[in-house]
Amino acid sequence: MCGIVGYIGFREAYPILIKGLRRLEYRGYDSAGIALIDNNEELSVYKAKGRVSDLEESVKDKDINGTIGIAHTRWATHGEPSNANAHPHYSQSETIALIHNGIIENHAVLKTQLEEKGYKFQSSTDTEVLVQFIEYIKSLNNCDLFSAVQIALKQVVGAYAIAIIEKGNPDQIIAARKSSPLVIGIGEGEFFLGSDASPIIEYTNRVIYLNDEEIALIKRNEEPKIFTISNVEITHEIKELEMNLSELERGGFPHYMLKEIFEQPETLKNCMSGRINVEGTHITLSGIIDFKEKFINARRIIIIACGTSWHAGLIGEYLFEEFCRVPVEVEYASEFRYRNPVIYKDDVVIAISQSGETADSLAAIESARKAGAFVYGVCNVIGSSIPRNTDSGSYTHCGHEIGVASTKAFTAQVTVLTMMALAIAKEKGTVNNERYLSIIKELQNIPAKIKTILSHNDKIKELSLIFTYAQNFIYLGRGYSYPIALEGALKLKEISYIHAEGYPSAEMKHGPIALIDNEMPVVAIATNNTIYEKVVSNVQEIKARKGRIIAIINEGDEGIKELADHYIEVPSTLECLDPLLSCIPLQLLAYHIAVNKNRDVDMPRNLAKSVTVE
Ligand code: AGP
Ligand code: GLU
Repeated sequence: MCGIVGYIGFREAYPILIKGLRRLEYRGYDSAGIALIDNNEELSVYKAKGRVSDLEESVKDKDINGTIGIAHTRWATHGEPSNANAHPHYSQSETIALIHNGIIENHAVLKTQLEEKGYKFQSSTDTEVLVQFIEYIKSLNNCDLFSAVQIALKQVVGAYAIAIIEKGNPDQIIAARKSSPLVIGIGEGEFFLGSDASPIIEYTNRVIYLNDEEIALIKRNEEPKIFTISNVEITHEIKELEMNLSELERGGFPHYMLKEIFEQPETLKNCMSGRINVEGTHITLSGIIDFKEKFINARRIIIIACGTSWHAGLIGEYLFEEFCRVPVEVEYASEFRYRNPVIYKDDVVIAISQSGETADSLAAIESARKAGAFVYGVCNVIGSSIPRNTDSGSYTHCGHEIGVASTKAFTAQVTVLTMMALAIAKEKGTVNNERYLSIIKELQNIPAKIKTILSHNDKIKELSLIFTYAQNFIYLGRGYSYPIALEGALKLKEISYIHAEGYPSAEMKHGPIALIDNEMPVVAIATNNTIYEKVVSNVQEIKARKGRIIAIINEGDEGIKELADHYIEVPSTLECLDPLLSCIPLQLLAYHIAVNKNRDVDMPRNLAKSVTVE
């Protein structure tokens, strides 16, 4: 889930590790820790519940030196957030220190076996079981640490990215992964480890991505050696990263989330660039070209994703059904993976994910591939696990998204899905040329229209003050706006902790309307579309029950203005592109309400950016 950083080289490790942990803070965590081997070859572990700053505070009077170390931010899965449960964990003899992201599923069985042999545990984590087990294997087989890790991991069930150092052995870090990301950075005479590239990028852009069940032996002044857990040596290509450091900074905004909301005109241009030709007459997605037939002959499209990416998938359903005339199912990856779903060989599965590391999505992809379906990834993080485990795909190209609440990745996902639906429809002949051209043209106008909405930020900020103390919120939308109602509600609950639900407007009368009274804010997406009149009726039903209506309307729509208590205007666009505009005021509304409530907007409680556990 959370963060791993490692360093071995010629510089002092502590400042590099702390800076690295800070770069990974965006992933969300509850405690942090560090292990170093000092110049006397002594191994020390320091850890603290809370923020990285709490860890720094706890070590401020200590003499911390050493040019090798590992560091961790934890997002508790086994055992509460506490100093004892924070990583690194020592082995019994305190000669081995290990950090771990993921879950050791058979920890209980292993722990019982170890306890029978006299091992004592200091924490309630699954991770401590692993480090004790490695030490046990090492003494049992009288082998070196690397072989012990290899043997131990063969018996481990679960997910892990781990890094290990050993007292008296200041020249090596051992790292391994399975279903949890891990990257090695290759510098000049120094090596770095990270659960993604953000702690590494300021030192080197040359990286190796470990694959599942691979173990790396990273020795000072030697090229890293990589083996499978069955001891087969693997040669990895070194990849060059394109990410730059300025992308990671807040660029003058108080929060990453606000910066990312404001980046959307630019990120959508990047997403379309090179895909829509200069004349604006054609869409080419390189991931589709070689697999055209798969899409044309697809019996069905199944979209799998989680959270916000799932909402983008729902918009994908409307787009693919409308333009490609193919049945679409949108599935929560977590349900799909365990439901024994019916998957045909001529199904096309589209997996959508910002991080490309979401454990449930990866497992759902695995089931789809086993069933013989063609799997296409729509991801943001380049080189992440989903692009590496799918048959083809398209990147969303919206840059590093740091705020835990996804904003720019969502609009980029919807843009990619729109381009995919149009490109496939063109190949299938299910969209006529005039319509195809008009949508491409309007798609290119979207960034400027988003800019217009962003210019209403102050008004939305003012409006947010009225609703800061609301206990509940309802979001309504129909057609293409229904997924936006869900997404608007998710944004608000994630960062402000206000209970919010999204509904298709017409469903209100089947139950939820009972909730409406003069205390209930209702955000109604009432932009002009084919069912506009019906949406107006739904808004009237709410008004009749004294709900407080905040309407998202098209510029100049006087009708709804009269009905609503408050309104936010967005430029009009084609119905199928409306989600790209109507989501923007909802992102801003959620943001300002959360700021008014003094919430930790970029790192909301209990959430992590990249959900690499089930
Ligand atoms: C979005 O605001 C959320 N934090 C969350 O729902 C997220 O979209 C979900 O966890 C999926 O992540 P992914 O896109 O990286 O797969
Ligand atoms: N399962 C481990 C724990 O609870 C690791 C959690 C994480 O990925 O941070 O300590």
